[in-house]
Amino acid sequence: MAAKNTLTITDNRTGRQYEVPIEEGGVIRAAALRDIKTSPDDFGLMSYDPAFTNTASCRSRITFIDGDKGILRYRGYPIEELAEKSNYLEVAYLIVKGELPDRKHYAAWEQNIKTHTMVHENIKKFMEGFRYDAHPMGMMVGTVGALSTFYPEAAHINDLESRRLQTRRLIGKMPTIAAFAYRHSMGYPYVYPDNDLSYTGNFLAMLFRMSERNYTPNPTLEKALDVLFILHADHEQNCSANAMRSVGSSQVDPYSAVAAATAALYGPLHGGANEAVIRMLMEIGSPKNVPDFIKGVKKGERRLMGFGHRIYKSYDPRAKIVKRIAYEVFEVTGRNPLIDISLELERIALEDDYFVSRRLYPNVDFYTGVTYQAMGFPMTMFPVLFAIPRTSGWMAQWAEMVRDPEQKIARPRQVYTGEMLRKWTPIEDRPEPTMREDAVSDRI
Ligand code: CMC
Repeated sequence: MAAKNTLTITDNRTGRQYEVPIEEGGVIRAAALRDIKTSPDDFGLMSYDPAFTNTASCRSRITFIDGDKGILRYRGYPIEELAEKSNYLEVAYLIVKGELPDRKHYAAWEQNIKTHTMVHENIKKFMEGFRYDAHPMGMMVGTVGALSTFYPEAAHINDLESRRLQTRRLIGKMPTIAAFAYRHSMGYPYVYPDNDLSYTGNFLAMLFRMSERNYTPNPTLEKALDVLFILHADHEQNCSANAMRSVGSSQVDPYSAVAAATAALYGPLHGGANEAVIRMLMEIGSPKNVPDFIKGVKKGERRLMGFGHRIYKSYDPRAKIVKRIAYEVFEVTGRNPLIDISLELERIALEDDYFVSRRLYPNVDFYTGVTYQAMGFPMTMFPVLFAIPRTSGWMAQWAEMVRDPEQKIARPRQVYTGEMLRKWTPIEDRPEPTMREDAVSDRI
């Protein structure tokens, strides 16, 4: 029998058979399940997939990952090659526009981004309103969201020129807002952009320039940060990209959607993991304490932060590059002693059946923290260093979603497990509310 690209489903409740097309080499449409009914007024079947572990929410041409083989490519280019040969702005162009720029287009792109590095003075004042010890990532979420009030025309999301302008603005302004957040937390005056410097060089200047007339970034550190930016530029449908698309699908302006994506990135299971890794390494304190710590992880008391990934079931290719970059940075800054604890954790974990059987390997965040710390960044800035380059990915994901005729407002279904119908009683007749043992989700 000739092979067919279909799936035959037998509904054992009715004995009926359904033939569902298999698309793209291994995808079925969840909506096809709705035809599987026991009677005409039956809702039909739906799939249940908490956390979308096996559901594709979109078609995308931006980033390819093969998690088993440890492959990551932006627009078809291997991450290793981009990290070695490109710079972040070129990669941002690639991610947003789909092609590597020629010289002319690169020059125009760089100029366009640099034109948008300044922020309105009221943004500065807005940021001054944060408490002295505000987490810079919280400041990012609020300030990026506030940008939407400065650019109301960004609401025209179907206008190509508007989308392009907001993309340039966001990529241009994220480092400035990030640097202001850092300076605010340090109590230092804000430093305005210096567009004679590179994208990363200018960012370093806005962070670390003190009284010197001209700030010259250390070229090794500037390059290291640029490579780290490349590694963080996009990662297909991760939690924050999903937030960007989901919130953006309501047709809100991109600043509001980037605020949502930044908030998603803030969490310790996503971009906040690099901060959590350093806190964990400091808590472990010494390589000799690693075996005890691993025991706790295996008992389920803790997670080994910076390990494991929803998609990678082998070594995260970005982690390999970060590990190399860490040593290049240490050549300039001196060795971060926490690296010894990281190496010991990695050595033990990669030999231990708990991690091997679950295919848990270092992810991108495992070595970024020690690198950023050596470069002089406080821990609270680590997720911010993730958000800056990820902005190009978010904007590309968002633009792809806006242009995709198959996309609609994101609105998952649910399996309702609550009470079906209850009789309302006046307040004086109600019994004292009791927390039912099974009503876990009712406990806030
Ligand atoms: N330490 C210990 N056990 C782990 C870890 C870990 N870091 N990650 C997963 N596991 C175990 C987990 O307990 C589960 O075991 P069991 O089957 O016995 O219940 C199994 O591995 C599968 O884990 P999961 O939670 O179902 O996997 P997931 O795909 O939902 O989670 C993850 C992925 C990244 C949230 C998770 O691996 C994790 O929490 N890692 C630590 C946080 C981290 O480093 N996050 C950064 C991710 S990469 C950059 C980014 O996305 O921003």
